[in-house]
Amino acid sequence: MYSSGTLRIDELTQEERAVYATLRPERLPEHVAIIMDGNGRWAGRRSLKRFLGHQQGAKSVQLVTETASRIGLPWLTLYAFSLENNLRRPKAEVTFLMRLLKTYLESNVQRMMDNNVRIRYIGRIHELPGEVQDKMNWAAETTARNTGTTLTLALNYGSRSELVDAFRALAKEVQEKHLNPDRIIEEDIHRHLYTKHMPDPDLLIRTSGEMRISNYLLWQIAYTEIYVTDRLWPDFRGINLLEAIADFQRRERRFGGIGESCGEVEEDPDRIKIAAG
Ligand code: FPP
Repeated sequence: MYSSGTLRIDELTQEERAVYATLRPERLPEHVAIIMDGNGRWAGRRSLKRFLGHQQGAKSVQLVTETASRIGLPWLTLYAFSLENNLRRPKAEVTFLMRLLKTYLESNVQRMMDNNVRIRYIGRIHELPGEVQDKMNWAAETTARNTGTTLTLALNYGSRSELVDAFRALAKEVQEKHLNPDRIIEEDIHRHLYTKHMPDPDLLIRTSGEMRISNYLLWQIAYTEIYVTDRLWPDFRGINLLEAIADFQRRERRFGGIGESCGEVEEDPDRIKIAAG
């Protein structure tokens, strides 16, 4: 078995290897989150039914996950099904997405084992159909001891409802007198999030060109770099993940501080005359 972060660069395609060669391996993101968007448009552009776009999107999930595991990415978190999708999409589409998820898990767990991928979930999972939850639990248990990439699927997920769940749990702690409200710090919120076991995303990718966050990981992306591509999710491949990482590595992350080329600091602020008006 590989340990976390083990590289399998020889398994990348030749094109992927060419992009990987431009990366600085010591500066790989630890956690990449993706808003997979554009399945419907992909199908529409080909005059196909929407479900075929989702089916092709599931193929992208598999291929992108495998590339992530080959480059030793520790955390990959995919927005597969939002609370809003569940409430606002036609019932037939929701039913199809649930069936697709079940089939995906059935037919991909062996590949996850071969790629040392561990699968987990975030979201209000208990509201999903029982037989889907059974399959999800089976896949999570089967892959639990893998030590490579952790693939997290956000399912029936909404960031605001995640925060509501966290605040309810915090309120309970206060009520039971385990926590003084005046002493609540960011860490207290963090330990009640669905993502408490993982680092915040370094990079958030959104496909299909929309400039929206869509209620995804709102707390966790406070300092995340955002990369939006016009490519539709069913056309997104491992090489596109590597391109996004290359773009990420060209950026200077400041976390609210000052960058290298942002002007000289005045050592004595009292010497500066502030222009009025
Ligand atoms: C957005 O496309 C995508 C989704 C609603 C769900 C993502 C689902 C998949 C990638 C397929 C199944 C996933 C797994 C894990 C098996 P859209 O329908 O909103 O596209 P549109 O905006 O072009 O209509």
